[in-house]
Amino acid sequence: MAETTTRSALPKGFRSAEQGWPELHRIPHPPHRLPLLGDVLGASRTTPLQDSMRHARRLGPIFRRKAFGKEFVFVWGAALAADLADETRFAKHVGLGIANLRPVVGDALFTAYNHEPNWQLAHDVLAPGFSREAMEGYHAMMLDVAGRLTDHWDRAALAGRTVDVPGDMTKLTLETIARTGFGHDFGSFERSRPHPFVTAMVGTLAHAQRLNTLPAPFLLRRSARRNEADIAYLNRTVDALVRARRTTSGDGDLLDRMLETAHPETGERLSAENVRRQVITFLVAGHETTSGALSFALYYLARHPDVAARARAEVDRVWGDAELPGYDQVAKLRYLRRVLDESLRLWPTAPAFAREAREDTVLAGEHPMRRGAWTLVLTPMLHRDPAAWGADAERFDPDRFDPKAVRSRPPHTFKPFGTGARACIGRQFALHEATLVLGLLLRRYTLRPDPGYRLHVTERLTLMPEGMRLGLERRAAVEVGSPERCPVRGAGE
Ligand code: HEM
Repeated sequence: MAETTTRSALPKGFRSAEQGWPELHRIPHPPHRLPLLGDVLGASRTTPLQDSMRHARRLGPIFRRKAFGKEFVFVWGAALAADLADETRFAKHVGLGIANLRPVVGDALFTAYNHEPNWQLAHDVLAPGFSREAMEGYHAMMLDVAGRLTDHWDRAALAGRTVDVPGDMTKLTLETIARTGFGHDFGSFERSRPHPFVTAMVGTLAHAQRLNTLPAPFLLRRSARRNEADIAYLNRTVDALVRARRTTSGDGDLLDRMLETAHPETGERLSAENVRRQVITFLVAGHETTSGALSFALYYLARHPDVAARARAEVDRVWGDAELPGYDQVAKLRYLRRVLDESLRLWPTAPAFAREAREDTVLAGEHPMRRGAWTLVLTPMLHRDPAAWGADAERFDPDRFDPKAVRSRPPHTFKPFGTGARACIGRQFALHEATLVLGLLLRRYTLRPDPGYRLHVTERLTLMPEGMRLGLERRAAVEVGSPERCPVRGAGE
């Protein structure tokens, strides 16, 4: 057995479940397991997460899947997930999809192993970039980028065209993190096709996902070559951005912090290589997931006119006649935040996170795990566990996040941003940006869903409602409480 209870380093590389779970046989797996191949019958390579959700419904709160000799344990029961949140016994596990991203971003915040010194260094240097004070500084820039979106949507509304929701939300969130984090403008709204940075980024995420689901990496030779080119492009783009900053000064954004701030205690700074990795990490982590969260929220708002009307009434009341909301007026949109939370409950756009045992332990008093044994928490199913969310857990209902309802639920049942020390550093950033944008959109437009659209969730490590379009109707300016914008300002399309 490779694992021991001593403090020796854990073996590198993939650790299959049979190495770490001595009573694995007690954990159910799908029927029709094939020798050598495993649980591959009916498995989809493009929607592994939704496959796992299907298995979860049949197999219960803990189950395992095996493919080509690699076995994984999945957990989604609320009690089991709550136990995994105990930071004294469990920690983040960097495996699978995340480990596959290491060739791109190495030991940057998201992909660093817990023991790598650059994690603590970068965490301490960058955390103040997400303080309330820093967030207030980003607010005006977020508004400015949102104005480019509404210019774009105004033109569509005027022409009676529907809008591509995930596409436009991706432009918005990429521009927002690029602008607030790095003072950069990708010009996404002026382009008819995605910026090549987005194409390269999506390529590396898709490649990482493919590596998860294929038996042997050599089968992906062509995709691997493409991936090399994508990584080279990401690096070149970021190096140019950093070079440009070294010749000018920023306004105290994340990049300034990365380049100039020393650790408050040790005086250490991030190396040039590490800065490159962090910039790519923030550009990727800072927009993919938020763009999905906004898209799902708009999907539900368009499908639930009663919810949209209540949220819109709140926006009108809280923002009043203000042309643009102030920072504090966003946090006051309590109901709209519940809409966002409820969307993230049903479709947490980073849909799983992995936890490993720090020492030999017994999960929830039932399942022995050796040190280093790990499991994937399947967040969309944790968020649907009837034990925590009731028999109607599939139903969209923002009132689940009413403070009283929240207090009545056990802790650790809502985890869209992960858990513990390695939970999302950008949580407040994402929530502020998404609430602000949803508020602006509700105030400005009536959303018209396409009656023929059936939710189709696409997976590329993150989740997105594919092919979702909305019709828009401008609300009267007097209703909106803001002066008309020039309908042709901005984009050169
Ligand atoms: C709705 C939007 C978002 C969601 C659902 C989300 C979700 C998550 C989750 C689940 C994790 C933990 C992953 C794990 O345990 O392996 C995480 C970590 C992280 N997120 Fe986010 N995220 C969002 C937005 C953002 C934004 C806007 C930023 C940056 C501006 C960001 C930057 C990061 C970073 C750097 C980490 C790694 C933190 C660490 O390990 O120290 N995320 N995120």
